[in-house]
Amino acid sequence: MEKLNGNKKLAVSVFISGRGTNLKSLIEFSKKKKSPIKIVLIISNNKSAKGINYAKKNKIKFLIINYKNKKKAENKILINLKKNKIKLVCLAGFMKILSKKIINIYKNRILNIHPSLLPKYKGLNTHQRVIKNKEKFTGCTVHLVNSKLDSGKIILQKKIKVFKKDNEYSLAKRVLEVENLIYPRAIKKFIGTNP
Ligand code: GAR
Repeated sequence: MEKLNGNKKLAVSVFISGRGTNLKSLIEFSKKKKSPIKIVLIISNNKSAKGINYAKKNKIKFLIINYKNKKKAENKILINLKKNKIKLVCLAGFMKILSKKIINIYKNRILNIHPSLLPKYKGLNTHQRVIKNKEKFTGCTVHLVNSKLDSGKIILQKKIKVFKKDNEYSLAKRVLEVENLIYPRAIKKFIGTNP
């Protein structure tokens, strides 16, 4: 496997579907002098994703991928990842499931952030389920992507207390703030432990 922590900044592509606060946090991280990454390409499956504005503002190349035909969409993604010499893919609120083909080509090179304490609460509506089950703690997790949903190796995880007065919205907000903090840290850790 190719080295991750060479002298040059690692070429990263961030995939989004919506709001893009995690993308924003990764862009800020990438702009730091000592950052190990450079965000070269932003991919969105949703042409109305608010996060695209962060790409525009920061003059980062972005690509809207129409997912009507998943096979075609993924081929286009692969072509563009190759063209831009992408070494690491960061899913940041990307709501499409990648096929085995992409996951195998970028084996151990795709990270995702998930708003729960994995392996608990894989999939969607995590906060709603956490509240319903009266959990005392929730959290967020950055993990490697493998072919099973939200199941790859955990890189970094943070536990967050659920308050009695919390509802799914207040919880989502608090978890998101922590997500935005840990994604850059997880990338740093991942690169540092994968020489
Ligand atoms: C984040 O909470 C992220 O963990 C979640 O979507 C949100 C995206 O927010 N991702 C998933 O649920 C993936 N299964 P953002 O667009 O502001 O980064």
